[in-house]
Amino acid sequence: MAYQLLKGKKGIIFGALDDKSLAWRTALRCYEEGAALVLTNAPVALRLGEINKLALNVKAPVIAADVTNMEDLKKLFEGAMNHFGGKIDFILHSVGMSLNIRKNKPYTGLDYGFNQKTLDISAVSLHRVLQTAYEMDAINEWGSVVALSYIAAQRVFPDYNEMSDAKALLESIARNFGYYFGVKNKVRINTISQSPTKTTAGSGVKSFDGFQAYAEKMSPLGNASADDCAGYCATLFSDLTRMVTMQNLFHDGGFSFTGVTEAIILEIEKNHEEIIK
Ligand SMILES: NC(=O)c1ccc[n+]([C@@H]2O[C@H](COP(=O)([O-])OP(=O)(O)OC[C@H]3O[C@@H](n4cnc5c(N)ncnc54)[C@H](O)[C@@H]3O)[C@@H](O)[C@H]2O)c1
Repeated sequence: MAYQLLKGKKGIIFGALDDKSLAWRTALRCYEEGAALVLTNAPVALRLGEINKLALNVKAPVIAADVTNMEDLKKLFEGAMNHFGGKIDFILHSVGMSLNIRKNKPYTGLDYGFNQKTLDISAVSLHRVLQTAYEMDAINEWGSVVALSYIAAQRVFPDYNEMSDAKALLESIARNFGYYFGVKNKVRINTISQSPTKTTAGSGVKSFDGFQAYAEKMSPLGNASADDCAGYCATLFSDLTRMVTMQNLFHDGGFSFTGVTEAIILEIEKNHEEIIK
């Protein structure tokens, strides 16, 4: 069900790669809620062509931008403001990539060249996007920016590797820029810490299926789906959450505050009995 929460609002959505992407689901939801959109992704991702299907569905232009390239970002904001005929109300940053994970390098044996690139794409890019918008005065008062994070920013999940550090930095940038943009023109900036979700980036994490099944059993409500995440993003872009800023918001069915569940204890007891037998 849609509520027209975003009627009259204009937003840029970064990171829709295919129909599993959190950004893809969010673009669909924002469109249903009445928003006008511009879609963007890296030139190499656009070459796959999938995003054009989404663009048709949500009647949005697609503008290429590598999030590590300041020229691209400037052109993106110029293009979006031209398209909308004015400033932007919301932005979804749904971008992440780990070169060390891709190259099977463990956390204790990182390649620092890859590491710099990972941090730039997955975290500093949020600063680049915000700085571009800040300097161009591209966001309306009470605008809202959301970036997607993961609980490995706070707790150790070994297979998440260098992305844990990237997410910690991403959340810190949201907090700090949230201060400056809030003071300047009441723009709010938050991160959503989402449950493991089977997407291209998600599946890149080693043993993803086990990881996701564990989180499912450890969450009183179960894992939050991509569509649940899309709905939460829409509320944060809406006027109903005007005073929420500089927060990392857990969207994980209760995982983050659960010590252990009966389902996990039963599973461990079952395995233990099988070992004894
Ligand atoms: N899937 C999960 O389990 C999960 C959980 C929590 C948070 N997240 C976060 O959600 C966000 C979206 O990931 P997803 O799971 O939807 O996967 P996804 O693979 O669909 O999206 C990642 C996007 O990042 C884009 N990207 C990579 N390098 C880029 C660059 N240089 N410039 C511009 N775009 C670039 C990719 O093209 C892709 O569209 C990421 O930040 C991810 O870390 C995912």
